[in-house]
Amino acid sequence: MDDLQGKVFIVTGANSGIGFEAAKNFASRGGEVVLVCRNETKGLAAMKEIEAETGSEKVVLEVADFSSLASVNELADRLLLNYECIDVLCNNAGGANSKRELTNEGFELTFATNHLSGFLLTQKLLPLLLNQAARGEARVVFTSSLGHKNSPLDFDDLNLDKKYSTLKAYGRSKLMNLLTAREIHRRYGHQAIIASSFHPGAVRTAIWGKGGFLATVLGFVMYPFMWSIEKGADTFIWLASSQEEAVKNAAGNYFFDRRQPSIADFATDEAAKRLWEVSEELIQPHLKDSQQI
Ligand SMILES: NC(=O)c1ccc[n+]([C@@H]2O[C@H](COP(=O)([O-])OP(=O)(O)OC[C@H]3O[C@@H](n4cnc5c(N)ncnc54)[C@H](OP(=O)(O)O)[C@@H]3O)[C@@H](O)[C@H]2O)c1
Repeated sequence: MDDLQGKVFIVTGANSGIGFEAAKNFASRGGEVVLVCRNETKGLAAMKEIEAETGSEKVVLEVADFSSLASVNELADRLLLNYECIDVLCNNAGGANSKRELTNEGFELTFATNHLSGFLLTQKLLPLLLNQAARGEARVVFTSSLGHKNSPLDFDDLNLDKKYSTLKAYGRSKLMNLLTAREIHRRYGHQAIIASSFHPGAVRTAIWGKGGFLATVLGFVMYPFMWSIEKGADTFIWLASSQEEAVKNAAGNYFFDRRQPSIADFATDEAAKRLWEVSEELIQPHLKDSQQI
């Protein structure tokens, strides 16, 4: 695999599962890796494990809670201070929630954690990604899911006020990941930002135990058929770091097992454009707050 010396990778949700596996891979190949984790203790443990296994001295921990736009704003501000260029941003943090909950900022928790926070982070880091792209290329990779097919977006009910279900909330957020990658390509592909999204497969990670009773039961039943974390992270690592033409031409598309499978009919360009505009409006007040601080 290609040497990643001199490249900076930001990986959200890096303390466990496929995010940890991908971060470890980038570090083992010489990349500088910023582990973004919500829990400092878990983040430090992950950092030590990666350092011990890879011998890397270029692993950094950043703590941020993706259920809070304020927290992600602060994270982005720190990264803007510390880096001039970012090669690869991996928007991977996410999960499912059994009950409808609102964040302190008034957003449905899954929507905020899985989409809005990654969107805000990407928006704020665009200058650093564009700096790098001007020297060759930069990449943004979104961990989406086959679950993006669960439900079309309802722009009149992004907060799922009407009828909440875990699968609907999770599926819509993963559709948003797919659409955001596509819209990044439309807006910035010509400036050498390579965007993509992927489904990792049904993977044996901790996520199945974090989404309530239904997810735990589903995880238990599917466990024997699930992929290992190494296999689940393969397409992730490939999209983030391979120099193969298929990746360089990813063009905002959605991948599974290094191929482009069919996507939901409702994953349209129009939905991608509208989601971008609505998301920009929703994060705007939070960006202004940060600038005033
Ligand atoms: N496993 C699968 O079968 C599967 C299938 C399709 C898609 N995915 C997607 O793959 C991605 C990674 O999940 P995984 O399977 O590797 O599970 P995981 O081990 O639970 O990893 C999820 C990561 O996201 C972090 N995270 C969750 N909520 C957060 C928040 N509010 N703020 C900051 N970080 C937060 C978690 O932190 P904590 O450790 O602190 O919880 C963890 O580091 C997710 O986006 C998931 O939707 C997974």
